[in-house]
Amino acid sequence: MSRLTQSELWSSLDRHYDEIKHVHMRDLFDKDGSRFEKYSLKLNDILYDYSKNRINDETLNLLLQLVDEVDLSGWIEKMFKGVPINNTEYRAVLHTALRDQGDQPIMVNGCDILPEIREERERVNLLAESIRTRKWLGATNQAITDVVNIGIGGSHLGPLMVTEALRPHTLHDLNVHFVSNIDENHINDTLEYLNPETTFFIISSKTFTTQDTMVNAETARQWYINKLGSDECIDRHFSAVTSNVELAKEFGITEDNIFKMWDWVGGRYSLWSAIGLSIVIAIGSKKFDELLAGAYEVDQHFRHTPLEKNIPVMMALLGIWYNNFFEAQTMAVLPYDQHLHRFPGYLQQADMESNGKDVDRQGEAVDYTTGPVVFGEIGIAAQHAFFQLLHQGTKLVPADILAPVYSFRCIARHHQALMSNVFAQTEALMRGKTEAEVTAELIADGLDDAQIKQLLPYKVLPGNRPTSTILFDTLNAKTLGSIIALYEHKIFVQGVIWNINSFDQWGVELGKQLAKNILQELNDIEPIDKHDSSTNGLINYYKQRRQQNLQK
Ligand code: F6P
Repeated sequence: MSRLTQSELWSSLDRHYDEIKHVHMRDLFDKDGSRFEKYSLKLNDILYDYSKNRINDETLNLLLQLVDEVDLSGWIEKMFKGVPINNTEYRAVLHTALRDQGDQPIMVNGCDILPEIREERERVNLLAESIRTRKWLGATNQAITDVVNIGIGGSHLGPLMVTEALRPHTLHDLNVHFVSNIDENHINDTLEYLNPETTFFIISSKTFTTQDTMVNAETARQWYINKLGSDECIDRHFSAVTSNVELAKEFGITEDNIFKMWDWVGGRYSLWSAIGLSIVIAIGSKKFDELLAGAYEVDQHFRHTPLEKNIPVMMALLGIWYNNFFEAQTMAVLPYDQHLHRFPGYLQQADMESNGKDVDRQGEAVDYTTGPVVFGEIGIAAQHAFFQLLHQGTKLVPADILAPVYSFRCIARHHQALMSNVFAQTEALMRGKTEAEVTAELIADGLDDAQIKQLLPYKVLPGNRPTSTILFDTLNAKTLGSIIALYEHKIFVQGVIWNINSFDQWGVELGKQLAKNILQELNDIEPIDKHDSSTNGLINYYKQRRQQNLQK
């Protein structure tokens, strides 16, 4: 058994779970009118209400002991100070340095990294602003109208999510596109309407070896050359963001257009680095600074606020509570803000690539469950799609609800209706509907006893479904930066409690290795027999069908 599950505290949490598992939140609210005041926290314009969770003071008392037991405060300091806590890649974890606004040095291998970070940001800002102000001219002296970010995973999801979230702050005559899929349809559909003379590419890849990105980059370069007849002036149209400067140069990108990132920034935590170039082009450097400032404020909050008042800590502890004691397998993230429509996708990578691990920091298999399956959708759309399961399904799905007090334009007719759904859904999930309530409704509707008896079981909603609600004033750059950082730190805290390294991703390597070999096999027409019968069968069927198609 692991240290975690054999601890006295874990047993106390288990016992407490047994006591509370049948307690209904409706009763908790009925008994204690101060739950909202007790179980909500505020940071600037962000309100975090976690009162609609299956907790009481004892739950929090025990969960907070857990963070003491794992020395969370010590781990927080290690991360912020650049100790190489990514112990399988021997790296520091310093995305927080990218938004640091202080004047204290942050040392990595004996060097203060802040000057280099700020220098690189300045270079990013210069390029972005010259594109935004139409000073950057393409091969035929025309201003740039379209920017295409080619990248995948962390080199795509963060920039895409932020650019969409801050869409009202983007320029109308400058379009930013994102291409990630190696499926040719993605790049072809994107390039179809673009003019190479006014298009600027950003090849975003920390490693500059990711197959999807490199294949797309090559296609983009070929498209440019085909359309313009030569690669002359290609420097006016291609840039790269990478920690592998040599490979970017080999690809043909001029050093002036290469922006550096560092090995101490994980891909899924990299939107704050030059990987955010597409964001800066979309929203401008001033707004990007606000994004950084919002994240920095959360960093300060996370580092210096007592753990019981610390929002990411509470978010993480609730996740542990459901994941490890209620055995919830999932977590839903439901933004009620259209501009956050890419947030669930972004969070999936941030959370699942970080905490989807089955081996602890000592190399031992864990004997408890780790990261949840994160899924989500715009809240309103989800209500009409999968909320049925949240209300009456057999699985417990804790959900985070994010919603703005003001929308960008704030047309009252829309916004009040939207928000009425936020409050109604969290209340419905918490309270449910009792037999007595359903019966009273059916009587009022004029149904007879037999009809009531027949319908009753279907109409009862069990309730007791947990939600946490994050209300923020409006979705501006600063608030968005704060929200992202809250989730980053939540993930970190959970990784510390589960004693796993949240900053590597070895699990994704096997598929990449196999794909490399299989790619060679696909290029050869002979049937394959090296794999299991299913893989052989699928590959051979595919090759045969391609051959038949060629012969038609
Ligand atoms: O395959 C997973 C991954 O390594 C992610 O961690 C990363 O964000 C993504 O691929 C892209 O990697 P790169 O930026 O090196 O192209």
